[in-house]
Amino acid sequence: MTHDVRVAGTEIVFPCEPDEAVLDAAERAGFTMPYSCRKGVCSTCEGGLTAGAADVRGRGSLDGPADGVLLCQTRPRSDVEIAPQRIARREPPARKTVTAKIHKITHPADDVAVVALRFPIGVRAKFRAGQYLTVALPDGDTRNYSMANPPHQNDGALLHVRRVPGGRFSGEILGGLAKGDTLRVELPFGEFCLDADSDRPAVLLATGTGFAPVKSIVEDQVKRGDDRPLHLYWGARRQTDLYLADLPTQWARRYDWFTFTPVLSDPGAEWAGRTGHVHRAVLADHPDLRGHEVYACGNPAMTAAARDEFTSGAGLPADRFYSDAFVPSGDSQPVASA
Ligand SMILES: Cc1cc2nc3c(=O)[nH]c(=O)nc-3n(C[C@H](O)[C@H](O)[C@H](O)COP(=O)(O)OP(=O)(O)OC[C@H]3O[C@@H](n4cnc5c(N)ncnc54)[C@H](O)[C@@H]3O)c2cc1C
Ligand code: FES
Repeated sequence: MTHDVRVAGTEIVFPCEPDEAVLDAAERAGFTMPYSCRKGVCSTCEGGLTAGAADVRGRGSLDGPADGVLLCQTRPRSDVEIAPQRIARREPPARKTVTAKIHKITHPADDVAVVALRFPIGVRAKFRAGQYLTVALPDGDTRNYSMANPPHQNDGALLHVRRVPGGRFSGEILGGLAKGDTLRVELPFGEFCLDADSDRPAVLLATGTGFAPVKSIVEDQVKRGDDRPLHLYWGARRQTDLYLADLPTQWARRYDWFTFTPVLSDPGAEWAGRTGHVHRAVLADHPDLRGHEVYACGNPAMTAAARDEFTSGAGLPADRFYSDAFVPSGDSQPVASA
């Protein structure tokens, strides 16, 4: 049976099909709410179930009011009322599943592969800078990877994949792929995109391959000729982990709206730059973030610490913190419990 989902404090109501998650139903009805993994791991979609009954994967049957509910895992059992962190109108995404060919794989660092995919001739995929795609594995499970190419280069996709110890895709499968092999990908997904209605200065915060969506965002801003101030803090353990540092260094020379601060947590003696936790470098430079937006991507511990410390200690409004935590995106990962 179809149930109504009401959004607390608004006039918004949309239908949710039997066994459909609230996040999917909202998207189908033309609304967007914060999310990232869609698999119950990252907590980005956390909100309230203010009234009604629902099955929530990882927590069983819940009766509202209940806090800390993952809306990507919530399937109503009655009409419900929810309180997401944000909700806005957005055209339902025109998602495509494409068989893409490997064009090139390079290794700018020992544990990072840059994978250039080409779509079949004539196929283009519309996406927004900062979004990700899913790669289908042979058993039907999927992995998420952010697109490092800007949206105007949409006849393929560029992925930055960090090798995870024991990783099925990032190790085993990717290690056996060569030019001409194919991958089935679906795109676009994600809300890690600059707020187009804002001209506030933005802090871009990345660790490791969290640089991938940042590259797309900055190259898109260059293409659009915008001059919104963007300050990138890119954190890593050692200098070699900043696998494409020449690129943001060049952007900083070329564009006066762009600033680049690399930060190492375990530098060698030759490093003369910033050190420590990358989000702490942001706080040292911007103790007052009330006038900013922050876009944080990469290590989940970093994105969680940044959210906590920026909102509690530097006045950043919670709804101006955007993140893609690179949590494990396979189906076998445990669902976060609130
Ligand atoms: C929205 C989103 C976007 C992402 N974008 C990128 C991206 O652009 N580049 C990128 O390199 N990764 C990205 N990831 C992570 C990626 O989707 C995979 O989870 C990762 O590559 C591991 O997949 P695997 O098959 O190699 O490892 P699996 O076989 O799934 O896991 C092997 C082991 O490693 C652990 N593990 C899995 N992923 C991670 C991780 N990220 N960190 C630490 N331990 C892990 C697992 O718990 C397991 O124990 C993203 C994740 C999300 C949710
Ligand atoms: S989007 Fe729901 S937990 Fe990640």
